[in-house]
Amino acid sequence: MVTSSAPGKVYLFGEHAVVYGEPAVPCAIERRARVTATEREAGLRIHAEDLTLDGYTVEYTGTEGDHPDIDVSDSLVEAGIGYIQAAVEQARDAADRPDAGFEIVVESDIPLGAGLGSSAAVVVAAIDAATRELGVELTPEEIADRAYQVEYEVQDGQASRADTFCSAMGGAVRVEGDDCRRIEGVDTLPFVIGYDGGAGDTGKLVAGVRELRAEYNFAADTVTAIGDIVREGEAVLGTSDHEALGELMDFNHGLLSALGVSSRSLDAMVWAARDAGALGAKLTGAGGGGCIVALDDSDETLTALRYTPGCAHAFRAELATDGVVQE
Ligand code: PMV
Repeated sequence: MVTSSAPGKVYLFGEHAVVYGEPAVPCAIERRARVTATEREAGLRIHAEDLTLDGYTVEYTGTEGDHPDIDVSDSLVEAGIGYIQAAVEQARDAADRPDAGFEIVVESDIPLGAGLGSSAAVVVAAIDAATRELGVELTPEEIADRAYQVEYEVQDGQASRADTFCSAMGGAVRVEGDDCRRIEGVDTLPFVIGYDGGAGDTGKLVAGVRELRAEYNFAADTVTAIGDIVREGEAVLGTSDHEALGELMDFNHGLLSALGVSSRSLDAMVWAARDAGALGAKLTGAGGGGCIVALDDSDETLTALRYTPGCAHAFRAELATDGVVQE
C-alpha cells in the first residue's frame, strides 16, 4: 500500500493569455489530493472522498455497461473514474505490468470543478502511488508528462500542461506552450482563496476572448499586456516583494475583466479582499465564476470574504513548495 499526495493550483498570472503563446505563472497551493494504491489480483476498485461529494465506491471490471450504483451526478463520477482509470493505465505502462489490479482510495480537499486543478492533483498522486506500489519510481517530470497524457485523453485534447506540471513539481512554475519549468527561489506566498461555489464554462470563455481578440486590436493588445504583466511578475517573484506582486495581480484582474471573463461574484470577492487590505486580488483560471486568489499575510481578507455575499467558501492556502510526495 502506497499513499501519495499532490497539490492543487491557482494562477498567479497569465490565464487566457497563455492560450495565445504568452507565458503564465500557476502556483501550487497547500490543498492536496491524497491517493492510496494497493495492488490486488485484478481489476480496479475505486473509493473516493471529496469535499464536494459524499463519497463513492466503484467496483470497475471493465465490462461494457458497467455502471456505478451511487447517488451523485453521473457526469462527475464518470469523469472521476475516467481520470483514475487512465492514471492507473499509465502506471501499468510505466511498470510494464498491463494486468496489474488495484484498489484506489482518493481523498481530496481541493474543491471540484473550481479551477483549482483538482483533477490534475488526483491524477498526479494516483500515477505516483500506483507506480510506487508496483516498485517503480518516476521523476516528478515523468509523472507530469504522464499526467498530461491522461488529461489530454480524458478531456478530448482540451488540456494544457499547466495544472499537471504545477501539481507534480510544486512551487511557482512558468508555462509557455509546451515549455514548462519551475521558478526557483519562491518560498512563501500568503494566498487566500474565495470560491463562489460555481464555475464558468471554460470553452465558452476562451471562445469569447478569441472573438474579442479577432475583432479588436485593443483586445489583442490586452492579451499581450497580460503577457507583459507575467514577465514583470516573474522578475518580481524572485525578490519576495509581495506588494509589487499584489499590484500586478490587481492589474491582471483588470485586464481579464476587460476581456469579459470576470463576473459579479468574482468582482465582489476581489473588491472585498482589496477593501480588507489584501496586497492584490484577481480571479484565477477561466473565470465566469469559481475562485479568486488574494495575497494577504493577515486574517483580514479571509474574514472579509467569509462575510461577502456570493462567497460560498473562503480559505487560506500557502504556496505548496512540495509537488507530488509519497506520504
Ligand atoms: O480554469 P482552469 O484552471 O482550468 O484554467 C483555465 C486557463 C485558461 O487559460 C483560461 C485556459 C487554458 O487552457 O489555458
